[in-house]
Amino acid sequence: MDSAENKRTGNHSLRLISKVKPIYVLSILVLFLAISFGLTKTNRYKLCNLKSILSRQKLLNFFHPTPLQKKRNENTQMPSAESESEPPFCVQWMAPFLSGGGYSSEAWSYILALSNYLKTQKNSRFRLSIEQHGDQENLEFWEGLPLEMRNLAIELYQSECRWNQTVVVCHSEPGAWYPPLFDTLPCPLIDYSNFKVVIGRTMFETDRVNSEHVSRCNRMDFVWVPTEFHVNAFTRSGVDPFKVKKIVQSVDLEFFDPSKYKPLDFSSIGTLVLGSDLTGLNLEEKFVFLSVFKWEYRKGWDVLLRSYVKEFSGVDNVALYLLTNPYHSDRDFGNKIVQYVEGSDLEKPINGWAHVYVIDEHIVQVDLPRLYKAADAFVLPSRGEGWGRPLVEAMAMSLPVIATNWSGPTEYLTDENSYPLPVDRMSEVKGGPFKGHLWAEPSVDKLQLLMRHVMSNPEEAKAKGRQARNDMSRSFSPEIVAQIVLDHLQQIINNIG
Ligand SMILES: *[C@@H]1O[C@H](CO)[C@@H](O)[C@H](O)[C@H]1NC(C)=O
Ligand SMILES: *[C@@H]1O[C@H](CO)[C@@H](O)[C@H](O)[C@H]1NC(C)=O
Repeated sequence: MDSAENKRTGNHSLRLISKVKPIYVLSILVLFLAISFGLTKTNRYKLCNLKSILSRQKLLNFFHPTPLQKKRNENTQMPSAESESEPPFCVQWMAPFLSGGGYSSEAWSYILALSNYLKTQKNSRFRLSIEQHGDQENLEFWEGLPLEMRNLAIELYQSECRWNQTVVVCHSEPGAWYPPLFDTLPCPLIDYSNFKVVIGRTMFETDRVNSEHVSRCNRMDFVWVPTEFHVNAFTRSGVDPFKVKKIVQSVDLEFFDPSKYKPLDFSSIGTLVLGSDLTGLNLEEKFVFLSVFKWEYRKGWDVLLRSYVKEFSGVDNVALYLLTNPYHSDRDFGNKIVQYVEGSDLEKPINGWAHVYVIDEHIVQVDLPRLYKAADAFVLPSRGEGWGRPLVEAMAMSLPVIATNWSGPTEYLTDENSYPLPVDRMSEVKGGPFKGHLWAEPSVDKLQLLMRHVMSNPEEAKAKGRQARNDMSRSFSPEIVAQIVLDHLQQIINNIG
């Protein structure tokens, strides 16, 4: 989850990093983020300082070298042709490394894998450099990183590249690409023609890409998208098919490993927002559906509530837990749920509403696997997803998953490893910058049936959960995906010289 706050101690991370291969550690740590926090004066100062240690300062030095800096620049920028130790090319990965969130954790996992690979290569054809791009720096996130990672970040920030020998990866939404539509360091830093190759890594949640984003994609040499769905949506929208390559996304199977965790105690978290407390049912015997999402219409929380309260009532031994956080909204989810249900045409069952709990307190990232572990099934009837991180996390945790059979998740949902939820029809996005695009309306009736089915067939559901973890390990482990990234980069570098 994007907004997890970091409560770990540095010692814990250091212990982890010495025990586990860095690629895992990274993706774990990167997830411990805080997106929003009040900046005190000291924090503001530290943030400026961080920015100056890292990207912006480097950019300034690049244009106005200090004597010391210049010496280094001369060395790195004008390597002698005979020098064997200096690889001829550079891969500059630009992503929200210091921000946390989905793109951030994904980018870190590739950077770790690539830098590990480079350490083992005597005659690598490229060096690696990174740059903060695409989102705000988050001081808490940076300070929560273990020293090894911060040192790696500083080292990679300082490695400088001759632009005309650089492969740039812009790992962000197209609006952040040069020239950016919002305040961020542009990617690439200056006009595309100055660089050897420029790659965009991105995705989207509706059936198309708008014309502004299409032309931004077409300025790239390659556009890496995570699923076949995106390959189709991007090319159908007008992105040059020769540029679009599928590179899937990974899930951290070491961290999300059900054999490592005890379930979180649900009675200690979550607020009952629907259903009577007086039914006297034992919480431990309840069948628990879990959903994890940001509170936005796209996520289909209305579909979920409608199906759930239509199918179940107060006498069913079932509970729905919603782990949610605000998305341009306040935190009063309990009232929103009650208002939605009572303001709808849904009739209150004689036995009362089935139980719905909201977990709006903060769940520390380290507790997230325990939360999945405590559930019997995961459900997300989203209208459109880029990749669907909570879905693959739940699948890695061997949970049976019910999710809309449309958009990004079709890359990994099958009848064998999950319960793909059929779509009734496509509908128009009603507002916002992507008004008029289409996305899916998942079937309320089928969701009802599937939830009942999963609850009534626990052995079948568990078998699908096991298959889900197998499929995740087979195709989406961090090692496998990092190797795919590396293969693509090497192929590109071989082709340019
Ligand atoms: C790259 O740029 C440098 C100057 O920064 C120039 O000396 C070199 O010839 C250029 N290389 C190519 C392949 O254009
Ligand atoms: C899911 O969608 C695919 C097409 O994307 C289709 O082939 C498959 O039958 C669907 N599965 C279910 C259960 O609806």
